[in-house]
Amino acid sequence: MQDRPRCKTGIEVLDSELNGGIPTGSTVLVCGGSGVGKTTLSMQFITNGTKFDEKGVFFTASETVNKLKKHQGGYDFFNEKLLKAGKMSIIDLWSISDRLGLSEEVYTADEANILFEVIRDITKELDAKRLIVDSITSLCYRLQTQEMIRDFIFKLGSSLTAMRCTTFLTSEVPPQVFRYSQYNIEEFIADGIIYLGDIERKGDLIRTLQIIKMRGIPHGRTKFVLNMSKANGIELSPMLKSNI
Ligand SMILES: Nc1ncnc2c1ncn2[C@@H]1O[C@H](COP(=O)(O)OP(=O)(O)OP(=O)(O)O)[C@@H](O)[C@H]1O
Ligand SMILES: [Mg+2]
Repeated sequence: MQDRPRCKTGIEVLDSELNGGIPTGSTVLVCGGSGVGKTTLSMQFITNGTKFDEKGVFFTASETVNKLKKHQGGYDFFNEKLLKAGKMSIIDLWSISDRLGLSEEVYTADEANILFEVIRDITKELDAKRLIVDSITSLCYRLQTQEMIRDFIFKLGSSLTAMRCTTFLTSEVPPQVFRYSQYNIEEFIADGIIYLGDIERKGDLIRTLQIIKMRGIPHGRTKFVLNMSKANGIELSPMLKSNI
C-alpha cells in the first residue's frame, strides 16, 4: 500500500513522531488549557508551510489580528513580510461574521452554513494548503447544539480534505481537567488530536505535548516537554530524558 502524502509541520521532533508529517488534508484538534501554546504551535505550522511553498490562512476568533501579530512577533519564525507577500493571511473570523450580518450570539443553521461557505471559498481563492481556526471552541459557542457542531466541523473537514488543505482547530479545555474539547464532540470528528498539557514539577508548571491520534498512519505517543523560545518557537524534548 502506498504511504499517504504528508504535510510536514516543520517541527522536526513532531514530524519524526508522525513518521514524516500529518496526512495531507487531515483536520487536527490542537487542544489544551490556557497558555499551553496552541496559538504558537498553529502559527508556526502555517509559517513553516511557506518554506514548502504552501500558503496558509489563519482565522482568529480569540485574539484580534493586531494583538495576534504583536504576540507572535516575539518569535523569530514570525515574519510580517510573509503576510505582505500573500504567502499567508490572518483573518478575523468575527469581523467576517459581522460583515455578513450574522448573529452575535447564536447562529441559525443557515448562518452557520453561510460562515462555512465563506471559509471554504476564501481557502479556495487563496489556494491555501494549511488552515487554522483559533479557536473552534469560541465558534462552537455560537453553534451551541451538538448536531450543529458536528455538522459544521464535518462539512468543513470534508471540503478542506477535498482541497488537500491540512487544518488545525484549536480547542480550549478547562485547566487541570483531562479533556479534549468543551463540547465532547469535536475530538470524534477530527482526524487527529495533539494534546498540550501542563504538569507541575517542583513548583514549576511544565508544558507538555502528546499525539493522541492521527487517523491513517502509525505514530508515536510519547509525552514531550514543550518549551517556547524566541529563536526556535516550539521546542520538544522527550520527558523521560529531560531532567524533571
Ligand atoms: N518569545 C517567547 N518565548 C517563550 N515563551 C513565550 C514567548 N512569547 C510568548 N511566550 C509564552 O507563550 C504563552 C502563550 O502561548 P500561546 O498564546 O501560544 O498559548 P495558547 O494555548 O494559545 O493560550 P490561550 O489559551 O490564551 O489561547 C505565554 O504564557 C507566554 O509566556
Ligand atoms: Mg491561543
